[in-house]
Amino acid sequence: MSSEPDKSRYNILEVKLNAQSNPIGILILIITSSALITFWPISCADSTSYPPSADPQSQEITDIEPKLLSPVSPTWGFTLFLTGNWDGQLGPCGCSERQLGGIDRRTHILNSAPASGRLLLDAGPLINSEGRQAQLKLETFLLSLQHLQYDAIALTGPEMILLQENLPLGPDDRPPIIATNMPPEVRLEFAAVAYLEKNLRRGGENLDCLILALPDPQSMVGRWSSQKLQLQDPVSSVIEILTALNIDPHQSHNDKFVIVMLPDDNEFLVQQIKQIPALDLLVRAGYGDMPELIENSDNTPPVVTTGKLGKYVTKIELPISSSADVKKAQFEPIPIEEDFPQDPKIIEFFNNYQTSLKIENLIDSPYLPRQALDDDNTFTGSLACADCHADVYLIWNNFGHAHAMETLINENRQYDPECVKCHTIAMEYEIGYRSMEKTPHLADVGCEMCHGPGLKHRINTYTMYQEQFFTCEKCHTHENSPNFEGQREEYFQKIRHWQEPRIYWK
Ligand code: HEC
Ligand code: HEC
Ligand code: HEC
Ligand code: HEC
Repeated sequence: MSSEPDKSRYNILEVKLNAQSNPIGILILIITSSALITFWPISCADSTSYPPSADPQSQEITDIEPKLLSPVSPTWGFTLFLTGNWDGQLGPCGCSERQLGGIDRRTHILNSAPASGRLLLDAGPLINSEGRQAQLKLETFLLSLQHLQYDAIALTGPEMILLQENLPLGPDDRPPIIATNMPPEVRLEFAAVAYLEKNLRRGGENLDCLILALPDPQSMVGRWSSQKLQLQDPVSSVIEILTALNIDPHQSHNDKFVIVMLPDDNEFLVQQIKQIPALDLLVRAGYGDMPELIENSDNTPPVVTTGKLGKYVTKIELPISSSADVKKAQFEPIPIEEDFPQDPKIIEFFNNYQTSLKIENLIDSPYLPRQALDDDNTFTGSLACADCHADVYLIWNNFGHAHAMETLINENRQYDPECVKCHTIAMEYEIGYRSMEKTPHLADVGCEMCHGPGLKHRINTYTMYQEQFFTCEKCHTHENSPNFEGQREEYFQKIRHWQEPRIYWK
């Protein structure tokens, strides 16, 4: 585990900013470093950059200082709300209580700034997978972002291919997708735009914003190298567009506040783009668990990240007054908490998505790739073990593992492969769970999920049966069972149905 990142470097940062009606030169962006220090993500953390503390109880959300939610005077200012790097996470992250995130839980935050003085951007990527479920999920994301009135979004190349292939969405069902470095005719085919201009207005002041986005040509390798989707060199594309819009790319002070979104996490590209003086802000997806403001030591524009899994909204407040003083701007990661109000429209989109999974019967469809078992053994279901291990069966049956499917049914997620795979027996195998109708005996975390297929042992009980089919960690991941790591022994004690101290499972 790496150590805590150095917070001192976030303290001060300079941003150049020209308000159209009010050229004010240099603007200092001051970061509330307390925001970065006091809040610790409770789970679904990126353990490489934010190791969770060993004691999950000490990670109460109530640790966040309340002032964090509104550190800047709400009276006026221009507000940028930035999101991105969702990793396919529509709902709160993970299985346990007190999880951050959920695309349906942020409406009130985004609406806290008047639409005319607000810029709402998503830097992508929305999904991290392929196939039919990814498509349905992408559709749900886009409908939700449109409903939330996002001004524009960026997508990666593979996402744009997925979108163009089968989605029934028209340009009115989703926010504009910016792809600055696409040849114009390709942009037309993918219904993307080269840039977006928005004039922010507040308190008699104006700020002309220009938003660009650069999907990374490097990501279009291998099977993604599509004839249709061509991406050009990002740097020359930016220079070309700026010049076409009468903005001198080499001038750091111009009439527009220029924002560039980078949906692919490519450090090299970030470094290249940073060198264009006319840019004011880079929004980088990827990189770390929670939003960060990355240092700009020289005169390069600041780079902000969005955090991941939809757990935060990055808020940047640019207060501008009519006086010519040097102004302050603030960077603030807003955690999306579990008790934030849910948006009924987005819940509706989400339910439609679950209904599609059900109608298309995705779990039992060719869309879901399944592995073969090495031998001709097969699963018999837990009840079949009860014939001879009645005592063990009773212990198991009284416990959560035996009700894991019921849990999903209560949540109406029983048709969602992404949930079902850990709440049933061997969904990812040819002989594994398919549906409650076809394979009811393979629902729940049955005996054979841990002990392996039991048919041969049942026929000949002398068949050695000590294999460990799946480890606990296969399902008790950091995201879905944040307490497991610290309480391993307790978890084993809770499911104990063996006489001797366990020997095979260390
Ligand atoms: C026909 C009776 C019978 C059935 C059905 C049966 N077992 Fe067994 N099982 C035995 C016997 C007998 C032993 C060895 C003696 C003992 O440990 O009780 C055994 C041993 C085991 C062991 C310990 C293995 C070892 O080598 O120490 C496990 C684990 C086990 N069974 C799991 C299961 C599971 C899971 C099922 C259902 C898929 C199942 N058994 C079905 C009779 C059965
Ligand atoms: C196939 C996935 C899977 C595997 C493998 C698995 N579990 Fe679980 N476990 C679950 C699910 C799902 C639940 C939640 C069940 C429910 O309540 O719906 C759970 C719940 C539990 C709980 C209850 C937690 C609580 O606070 O009540 C314990 C304890 C537990 N598992 C221990 C273990 C141990 C120990 C192992 C390894 C020997 C293991 N599990 C392997 C999926 C799994
Ligand atoms: C990687 C495996 C995995 C996946 C994927 C998974 N779960 Fe779980 N789930 C678990 C485990 C393990 C637990 C037990 C956690 C614990 O108590 O430590 C659990 C527990 C739960 C619980 C709490 C049960 C209780 O009563 O305490 C709910 C609800 C739940 N899961 C729903 C879902 C939903 C909905 C999805 C899909 C979005 C999902 N799970 C996907 C492994 C998984
Ligand atoms: C969550 C994982 C898990 C599930 C589910 C599970 N077991 Fe086990 N089982 C274990 C572990 C771990 C051991 C201890 C293995 C060792 O000795 O190292 C064990 C041991 C056993 C043993 C050996 C008993 C002894 O006294 O040594 C039997 C028999 C057995 N299990 C049967 C079953 C049956 C039958 C079911 C379903 C009704 C079941 N198990 C469900 C994990 C599981």
